[in-house]
Amino acid sequence: MTQLLRHPETGELAFDGLSLKTLAQQFGTPTYVYSRTAIEDNWRTLDQAFEAYPHSLHYAVKANSNLAVLHCLAKLGSGFDIVSGGELHRVLTAGGDPSKVVFSGVAKSDQDINYAIERGVGCFNIESIAEVDRLQRIASKHDKAIKVGVRVNPDVDPKTHPYISTGLTTAKFGIAIERALEVYQTIDSLSHLIVHSVACHIGSQITQTRPFSDALDKVLNLVDALNNVGIQIDQLDLGGGLGIRYKDEQPPSMQSYVTALLETLQSRRCTLPIALEPGRAIVGNAGVLLTRVEYLKTRPAGSEQGKQFCVVDAGMNDLLRPALYQAFHDIVNVTLRADEYALDLDVVGPVCETADVLGYDRKLAVEADDVLAVLGCGAYSFVMASHYNSRPKPCEILISDGIAHCVRQRETLNDLVSGESLLPS
Ligand code: LLP
Repeated sequence: MTQLLRHPETGELAFDGLSLKTLAQQFGTPTYVYSRTAIEDNWRTLDQAFEAYPHSLHYAVKANSNLAVLHCLAKLGSGFDIVSGGELHRVLTAGGDPSKVVFSGVAKSDQDINYAIERGVGCFNIESIAEVDRLQRIASKHDKAIKVGVRVNPDVDPKTHPYISTGLTTAKFGIAIERALEVYQTIDSLSHLIVHSVACHIGSQITQTRPFSDALDKVLNLVDALNNVGIQIDQLDLGGGLGIRYKDEQPPSMQSYVTALLETLQSRRCTLPIALEPGRAIVGNAGVLLTRVEYLKTRPAGSEQGKQFCVVDAGMNDLLRPALYQAFHDIVNVTLRADEYALDLDVVGPVCETADVLGYDRKLAVEADDVLAVLGCGAYSFVMASHYNSRPKPCEILISDGIAHCVRQRETLNDLVSGESLLPS
């Protein structure tokens, strides 16, 4: 993470120019800290990688939906990829342009579709045949013709964690590419649906270019088949999925990812505009989670020799990825302590679950009360937080121009019970 630097004299860790220890003192822990510069640099790098090729970026809101983050991206001119009415509400509240929104998701409700049509969402990516009927019914009720794409499932293995593979035939997502032609023909015959794009998203945290090019190749076969029956496509929506480095992965750079796509297009003489829905690649490395060491706890004799538990104040309810996907997040002490004092630790949270482990087998020089930074926590981190064990959600800080802004307050105990009520006596 380029935003992380140790002070050459004090050894203290700074993120985007600000001392993480000071931020922990100021805002408490656990706390998510994001760098506006990193987010914007990532977005611009991806945007510029296309050079003059016609394209649009639709940031995947699910990766990090904080309003301030969305606002920064909206100001850059980003579009958004949403999967719920709630995400649309966030985009609109943050000043996003609804005409640049693509609406994905396998279970769009009547309510969500009504809301999206009323607000003028740019494109609906259809994920089932039943959804075609539903969209046509609701669009005609509004007497508005809406642009749609079909999210096709190209059956390409993205070679990533099975829980985040979405383009295999076993996945619930999209429509099998073999059936897509007839679905487009149906759409084409309907009064209130306008064929706009072919959409495809094969998975997340993908660290090779090959699955992307293979999927694109299959999408282009479909475009040819559609052209042959007189159905014109305006754009190709290739989803998100570009991976980042958490440990020793070597994901392609944004430039080589885009080059691989453009080469595939060129080899097929296709000049259609490309839409992408990047999430993790924009925000993943732009955030850290600060957590404080509550206790160091020695294990009983007979269990792993010399190993200790480092019990911290952030748990799986704050950061679910390690427990859910066995995901690796690097963990560093924001205070530099001599390596010779490094302990062999499992970094565990406060939640009453054995799976509540932020990191197994870490070598860390720590003392109780130290602040640790869990890295790579800009994407799929706060957004997946829950209240499990009645733990208020952490606050979120966005650093902009050297100033730390609290962009979501830490929840209070009263927030935890708001909306609940006792039975009438
Ligand atoms: N478009 C669609 C239709 C998606 O389903 C997703 C992610 C994206 C775009 C953005 O993908 P990205 O560029 O971020 O890879 N919670 C998991 C990741 C789930 C991704 C779901 N879909 C994790 O923590 O790794």
